[in-house]
Amino acid sequence: MSAFSHDSHDKYKKISPVSIAIDGPSGAGKSSLAKNLAKKLGFLYLDTGALYRTVGLYVFEAGIGGYETEKIEACIDSKNIKIDVFYKNGEQKVFLNDRDVSEKIRENNISKYASDVSKIPKVREFLLKTQKEAAEKNNIIMDGRDIGTVILPNASVKIFLTSSSDERARRRYEELTGKGKDVDYNAILKEINERDLQDSSRDAAPLKPAQDAFILDNSDCISPVDTLNKALNIIKERLPDVCIR
Ligand code: DC
Repeated sequence: MSAFSHDSHDKYKKISPVSIAIDGPSGAGKSSLAKNLAKKLGFLYLDTGALYRTVGLYVFEAGIGGYETEKIEACIDSKNIKIDVFYKNGEQKVFLNDRDVSEKIRENNISKYASDVSKIPKVREFLLKTQKEAAEKNNIIMDGRDIGTVILPNASVKIFLTSSSDERARRRYEELTGKGKDVDYNAILKEINERDLQDSSRDAAPLKPAQDAFILDNSDCISPVDTLNKALNIIKERLPDVCIR
């Protein structure tokens, strides 16, 4: 029987929060899907990549290299990094040592730092509590790389959203050129392939689908709305009583 056995989200929340895990490689559209689902279901959305990006930003600003594992571990041990997540009008805001870095962590050079620091078990351990706590208190949708495998192994629904690296690079290229940026498709494809390799071949919580995840491949160019509808069908199948707005 599904956890949804009453008719309002508040009631479900008091019984046992429902969690939905969305994992997958960079650029597959996880955050758009998770945001859209959160609106449709009235759930909280936690973008866990933002947490790794925030550690990456700290490391970058401290002048530490992404591969200087001991120095990065020392920053965590000395409690120099304080990360807070707040919601403003439903939008996730991330604060690093009381500074709003929600925009800054999206800068391109921070992506590589985020991927570098995410290989370090101590960094993952450091960010675990925030993620677990969020899911203990709220009906939640989380996206990342290890949500269904490590963070929420008992998630009510797990979706692994993926598409080919060519397709992800093409979308990223269109997004950036659409914003007037002068970018090279092959450079974007190379960066995506490198990040995929690094995220999926690391020892600590590598990117891989959970055994019980639904694989949703949107390489065939289906629009975000089609992806959303496919995900909603998966969720309705698993949680037949779910309330969709
Ligand atoms: O989803 P994103 O591109 O914002 O994530 C940035 C990096 O953080 C990504 O390269 C892998 C890492 N990450 C992770 O290891 N585990 C997560 N749950 C989320 C992100």
